Amino acid sequence: MVTVPDSAAPIGHLALVGLMGAGKTAVGRVLADRLRRRHVDLDRAITQLAGRSIGVIFHEGGESTFRDLETQSLVLQLEAGDPIVLSTGGGVLGRGENRVVLAADSIVVWLRARPETLADRVGDGVGRPLLEGRNALGVLRDLAEDRHPAYERAAKVVVDTDGLTVGQVVDAVLDALMDFGVVRPEALAGQTVDGAGGRL
Ligand code: S3P
Repeated sequence: MVTVPDSAAPIGHLALVGLMGAGKTAVGRVLADRLRRRHVDLDRAITQLAGRSIGVIFHEGGESTFRDLETQSLVLQLEAGDPIVLSTGGGVLGRGENRVVLAADSIVVWLRARPETLADRVGDGVGRPLLEGRNALGVLRDLAEDRHPAYERAAKVVVDTDGLTVGQVVDAVLDALMDFGVVRPEALAGQTVDGAGGRL
């Protein structure tokens, strides 16, 4: 299902949101290629800013240190002059400041999936401190309950990704953006982009 609310907004950055395992990084990479934009993965930007992995940041400073770095990185990336495709981390809408900067000049796209689908995709949760040593399905069900309202409020476009490949999700996002009038078909790069055929 694709939902496109009818309020219009000028296109700026495109920000992908959704829980862990939603496919934000894989979809963002291919979407950026199709739109000829720069792709930024926020978790990657955080590790570059901090000089440490996400796991080490959580381990040494706890989640609050990670969230501070997440906000700093988000602001830095959105301040960049060119419109980017930004793959966020699942918790980015938890802070009011992040919601405000994203609402200012980004179209937010929610990649939605059932917790069972997400648990299947994240496997043993390696590299994701919130899942390590815990039951991924249980955590993802709780996070879905906590976070879905914020994703819903922020998103202009919602794509249900259960059972879809990366390319199918990208096409669904682009169709929605075209319906929405923020992407013109002639602005798209060719159809064959590496990684588009992969499973999420
Ligand atoms: C988090 C999701 C992770 C990462 C961090 C916290 C979350 O990103 O930002 O581990 O709070 O859901 P992905 O959604 O890309 O896994």
